[in-house]
Amino acid sequence: MGWVRSFRNNQFIALNDGSTNNNLQIVAELGAFDDAVLKKITPGASLKVVGQLVASLGKGQAVEVKAHTIEILGECNPDTYPLQLKNRPSLEYLREIAHLRFRTNTFGAVFRVRHALAFAIHKFFNAKGFVYLHTPIVTASDAEGAGEMFRVSTLPFDGTPRKEDGSIDFSEDFFGRATNLTVSGQLEGELGAMALSEIYTFGPTFRAENSNTARHLAEFWMIEPEMAFYDLEDNMNLAEEFIKYLIAYVMEHNREDLEFLAQRLVEEEKTKPQAERSELGLIEKLEFVLNNQFERITYTQAIDVLLQSPAYKKKKFQYDVKWGIDMQSEHERYLVEKHFKKPVIVTGYPAAIKAFYMRRNEDGKTVAAMDILVPGIGELVGGSQREERLDKLEERMKDMHIPTEEMWWYLDTRRFGSVPHAGFGLGFERMMLFVTGMTNIRDVIAFPRTPKSAEF
Ligand code: 4AD
Ligand code: MG
Repeated sequence: MGWVRSFRNNQFIALNDGSTNNNLQIVAELGAFDDAVLKKITPGASLKVVGQLVASLGKGQAVEVKAHTIEILGECNPDTYPLQLKNRPSLEYLREIAHLRFRTNTFGAVFRVRHALAFAIHKFFNAKGFVYLHTPIVTASDAEGAGEMFRVSTLPFDGTPRKEDGSIDFSEDFFGRATNLTVSGQLEGELGAMALSEIYTFGPTFRAENSNTARHLAEFWMIEPEMAFYDLEDNMNLAEEFIKYLIAYVMEHNREDLEFLAQRLVEEEKTKPQAERSELGLIEKLEFVLNNQFERITYTQAIDVLLQSPAYKKKKFQYDVKWGIDMQSEHERYLVEKHFKKPVIVTGYPAAIKAFYMRRNEDGKTVAAMDILVPGIGELVGGSQREERLDKLEERMKDMHIPTEEMWWYLDTRRFGSVPHAGFGLGFERMMLFVTGMTNIRDVIAFPRTPKSAEF
């Protein structure tokens, strides 16, 4: 059973059930089937075929099925079906018909790889004895302190209950307080790690940031391991091992799909000027990452590299470079694509541009943060060693106007047997971009959520 991809010479049906990009050839012997049935064998129609699997006489396949019976399960009108072989649809158009795009070779490959990656994530952590922790989707806290949250409420829009000072009275709301969709499971993950030692989360996270880029989603999946007794170095080692494991896993289990995607990328890049094409093909790039150590530099060194770069001297950067800036994607991409030409782990960011929970370094100016930047993507991982010292943490929260009373549960872990610990978050769709060579994040998640777009 499957869906018709093509029907040639009123005789050869290419049938596909989504398990692989390779179609199964069905041979409908001439004269053996009613015209009424043959007419309904059009691209997109679904069939049930009973027949005999035989060695193929033709080229292009080892075996084929000699059909005894063909049953049309669902017809598909060729005049209105949008996926005809003749006019190859663009990725942009396929986004508008995301309910059907799974049926294309590209998206078949993408979603089989996505499955394999998800499976490999659990496999990796399970083998290491990590506990998979389900952190809440609805929460009252802003883990990143960036205020990019989607509100969760059952209060009416009209006649919202108000307090005497005119502010919204959330005590009337479903949870009796203001709540939102989680931006990260990290804070709850830390609570788990403070007893189970090593945990990871893998779930959807939500950010109401108005970034309409090829790297941002409003709803994306994140993997967040959190480890007691780990310092920043252990954290980096784990992240590098993890990324390499995932790549090795799909290289072994999804070879055909990766080869297909590699070819797709070559075709896509033909439309670009030479200077913008990647130096390595998809498979070579993945092999290169597997076989080389990630570069490790401090933020201060990264800024120096940028200041000394020809790009900076020729004023090619749109945004200014100086110690203290939050590096823009043009800076990150310069470091990984032009300078180091490989994944780079940057540590020791200025405290002022990083989240409240990161551990303050001895210099008082920087924190034990680490971001992993990769070619073509920019930031793939963000993580840190956490501030485990109660006094330092409270001080930093006050500086950053994070309400310490509301976060009593988070601070409790620092009161009761606090330990050094660390963790990171890997954006699942960014990893998908890296592995599949797709260039828009909307094409590696089934039904993307982005500003002004929530169809399906
Ligand atoms: O750097 P971020 O914001 O870090 C955290 O959320 C920490 N709580 C993680 C931790 O230490 N446990 O996000 C982590 C990663 C980024 O590096 C990026 O790969 C991805 O999540 N990410 C996004 N992916 C798609 N769309 C967005 N809008 C994303 N924002 C972050
Ligand atoms: Mg980050």
